[in-house]
Amino acid sequence: MIQLKEAKKIYKNGRTEYPALNGIDLTIENGEYVAIIGTSGSGKSTLLNIIGGMDQTTDGQYLYDEKNVSKMNSHALHLFRKEYVSFVFQRFALLNQYSVYENVEVPLLAKGIEKKERKKKVLSALMQVGIQDLYKKKPSELSGGEQQRCAIARALVMDTPVVLADEPTGSLDKNSGIKVMELLEGLHEQGKTLIIVTHDMDIAEHADRIIQIEDGKIVADTKKN
Ligand SMILES: Nc1ncnc2c1ncn2[C@@H]1O[C@H](COP(=O)(O)OP(=O)(O)OP(=O)(O)O)[C@@H](O)[C@H]1O
Ligand SMILES: [Mg+2]
Repeated sequence: MIQLKEAKKIYKNGRTEYPALNGIDLTIENGEYVAIIGTSGSGKSTLLNIIGGMDQTTDGQYLYDEKNVSKMNSHALHLFRKEYVSFVFQRFALLNQYSVYENVEVPLLAKGIEKKERKKKVLSALMQVGIQDLYKKKPSELSGGEQQRCAIARALVMDTPVVLADEPTGSLDKNSGIKVMELLEGLHEQGKTLIIVTHDMDIAEHADRIIQIEDGKIVADTKKN
């Protein structure tokens, strides 16, 4: 369970303060499918980064299954991310010096899984997202949709309980977007917590719960019944 209590994030640049989150109270149960919407600059990515342990609150609390993430040092945060969170991000998601195959293999290396088993898992994940023929390519040699699918393949092998996606269909055409959403929703159907940030109301409507934030505050929180 994800629990934020009065969570605040203030970015500081010299003496200037940029408040990005202004007191977020939010509980997301394990296995929920949530969409976060809001205007540009409202704090969506900041919130997602905090939930994923990529960034930390400047005030308030973040608990994950009773673990106090807001109090973790950088090493503990690194371990938290590795064990619990997969990111499917539009940019910065993939390592450009590595091939598609290696990008998907990296989390398995980190887990100490042996080579033969790694190969099986990587190929199976690439097949599931339909980019097995592109395994030798670098991410920069893939289309936006293929990059997203590569990031999803990595999330598949990571097998973490939480999957976070920031604008997963952002720069994709309609059909590639649908394919990416189907893959993400497949992860949710496996029981994972799926949280997506999107500008697109049609995409948000897929989720079981829509949270709207404006100026770093939750202004609406609607669950489908
Ligand atoms: N590293 C940073 N330093 C200073 N201010 C930042 C930083 N990152 C984000 N901000 C500010 O925090 C606020 C929230 O940013 P955030 O990226 O969370 O918005 P967003 O809702 O994801 O927007 P978008 O839809 O454009 O991606 C913005 O006002 C932004 O300028
Ligand atoms: Mg953003």
